[in-house]
Amino acid sequence: MQTGQAKPLLRALAGEALSPPPWWLMRQAGRYLPEYREVRARARDFVELCLTPELAAELTLQPIRRYGMHGAILFSDILMLPYALGQKLAFHEGEGPVLERIEDPAAVGKLDARRIASALDPVFETARRVRGGLDPRTTLIGFAGAPWTVATYMVEGGGSRDFRRVKSWAYRDPQGFDALIDLLADATIEYLTGQIGAGVEVVQLFDSWAGTLPEPAFVRWVIEPTRRIVAALKVRFAGCPIIGFPRGAGMLHERYLRDTGVDGIGIDTAVPPGYAHRTLQPLGTVQGNLDPVLLLVGGAALEEAVRGLRQMLGAGPYIFNLGHGVLPETPAENVQALARLLSEPVLAQPMDA
Ligand code: CP3
Repeated sequence: MQTGQAKPLLRALAGEALSPPPWWLMRQAGRYLPEYREVRARARDFVELCLTPELAAELTLQPIRRYGMHGAILFSDILMLPYALGQKLAFHEGEGPVLERIEDPAAVGKLDARRIASALDPVFETARRVRGGLDPRTTLIGFAGAPWTVATYMVEGGGSRDFRRVKSWAYRDPQGFDALIDLLADATIEYLTGQIGAGVEVVQLFDSWAGTLPEPAFVRWVIEPTRRIVAALKVRFAGCPIIGFPRGAGMLHERYLRDTGVDGIGIDTAVPPGYAHRTLQPLGTVQGNLDPVLLLVGGAALEEAVRGLRQMLGAGPYIFNLGHGVLPETPAENVQALARLLSEPVLAQPMDA
C-alpha cells in the first residue's frame, strides 16, 4: 500500500509492510544510558525532570542520537496525569512511584480536570522543542496511560502485586468506579489533544495492567474508555494514528483491536508472533514483541529472536519494539547491536500453518 508518507513509522501505521521495519523501544530513554544518568542528576526529582522542557527534550533525543530509532517518544510519565489532576506524587529512589490514595467517589470529586492544560503545559513545550529539531525520518510519539492502568496507581497508591484495592472498589461499586474512569478518559483526551497540538505525530496508550481483568471488566474498563478516547481524538485529528498497548490481554487482543478503533496494537512478550500475524495484522499494525531480557543478554540469542520476529511479522504492517520496557541493566552496546541487526535484510517468511 502506498500512502505518500515519508516517515517509516507513519507508513507502517498506515498499513504498509516495510523491510527493514521501523523501530523504537518502550522506555528507550532511561537509566541504561550514561547520558540519562548525567541529566537525571541535574534535576531535584523525577517530576521536576518531566516538567523541565529543556531537560525533557534532551532526554527524548538521547536514544535517537545514539541509535537512530524511527520513533522518538516524548520524555514524561503516565503518572503526570494524576499529578496534574491534583494528586500528590513522588518517585523514591529504587522504590517506584508513591501516590496519595484515591479510595472513593468523594476523593474523585476533589480531582480537578480543569488544571490539565496549564499544569501539563511544560510537557507540550517539550513536544514543541523536540518536533522543531527532529530529522525528517523520525516520528515524534506522544503517550498517556490508559484509564484502567492510571486508576490502578491512583487507587493502590503506587505499584501493586494483586490489585486488590482497585479491583475491590470496581467490583463492589462499579458505578462509583466508572466516575473515576470517565474522568480519566476525559482528562486523557485533553492531555493528548494538547500533545498533538504541540507537534506529536502518533500517540500510544499504555495499558500495562490490562491483563489483570476478567473479560466483563476488561470490556468495561479497558475497551470502553479506550474506544471513547480514540473516537474523540479521531474527530479532532483524523490523521493522527493511535497505538494501544493492552499488556497481558491474551485472548482479548483481537477484540481490543476490533472494538477500540486503534490503528496499531502493541503486543507483549507472551503473544505468539504467529497469532499476531494471522489474527491481528489483518486488522491493524502490529508492534512488538522482543523479550527485554533478550536485549539484556545480547549475542546469538538476540540475533535469532530478532530474525524470527522479522520473518513472521515482516510481511505485514509491522513496527519492531520490545514486549515491555528496556531494563535498566541493559548494556548500551546491545542496543547498538540491535540497531545493526534491524538494518540487515531479512526475507519475511510467515508460516501460515
Ligand atoms: O523512553 C520512554 O519510554 C520515555 C518515557 C516514559 C517513562 N515512563 C519514563 C520513566 C514512559 C513512556 C513511561 C511509561 C510508564 N510509566 C508506564 C507504562 C509502561 C510500563 O512500563 O508498563 C508506567 C506503568 C509508568 C509508571 C512508572 N514510572 C513506574 C512504575 C516507575 C518506577 C519504576 C521504574 O521503572 O523506575 C516510573 C519511573 C520512570 N518513568 C523512570 C523513567 C525513565 C525512571 C525514573 C528514574 O530515573 O529513576
